[in-house]
Amino acid sequence: MITQDTPKTESLNSEHGLPMSSQTVAIAETPPPTPQLAFTTGSGCIYCGDSLQLLNNQNIVRPGSVNIIMTSPPFGLVRKKEYGNVDADQYVDWFRPFAEAFYNVLADNGSLVIDIGGSWISGQPTRSLYHYELLIMLCREYHFHLAQEFYWWNPSKLPTPAEWVTVRRIRVKDAVNCVWWLSKTPYPWEYPTLASFTS
Ligand SMILES: C[S@@+](CC[C@H](N)C(=O)[O-])C[C@H]1O[C@@H](n2cnc3c(N)ncnc32)[C@H](O)[C@@H]1O
Repeated sequence: MITQDTPKTESLNSEHGLPMSSQTVAIAETPPPTPQLAFTTGSGCIYCGDSLQLLNNQNIVRPGSVNIIMTSPPFGLVRKKEYGNVDADQYVDWFRPFAEAFYNVLADNGSLVIDIGGSWISGQPTRSLYHYELLIMLCREYHFHLAQEFYWWNPSKLPTPAEWVTVRRIRVKDAVNCVWWLSKTPYPWEYPTLASFTS
């Protein structure tokens, strides 16, 4: 969701499609649709569609104007979802166009919060490092700061991969997502009531 006081247009005509390059592979069969204005209030609005097109349209999202981006992007899963996932070993390359767009639209004291699930290496009972590689890429290449990491405990996750978790029973069920809170400065704008959670 992106909010802004005065939306300029209801749809985009950007030439941007999926974040494809020679290094990236997007497997979604149907590209995300061109963003459409879906809902407006006095405080802002909601667009529905390809976030990359939206973020790269300066008529709608002014560079340096966004306080916070909260995203749960497609994860680098072995078993693909209908909306499309890239493989873990291509994930960082696939994410770079988003990283660049996120950095450009964020205010200097803005925050980027990414909910990201871990993944397994295909065919063996060990974990991928892709979400840690993403975090390091964002900090090293885009100079984001890691304000803090959180872990979303979700005990209702499915016990997969069944081969390791329920058949051979040599691994325990995965039950967390990582939540990376990143910022452009070491002192991002803090919501005033954060103090009430920490006291
Ligand atoms: C990991 S899922 C999010 C899951 C959600 N957080 C949840 O817990 O149910 C990723 C979502 O991103 C959407 N998506 C993929 N590419 C997108 C894009 N370029 N712009 C906007 N949304 C996109 C997918 O359709 C999917 O709904």
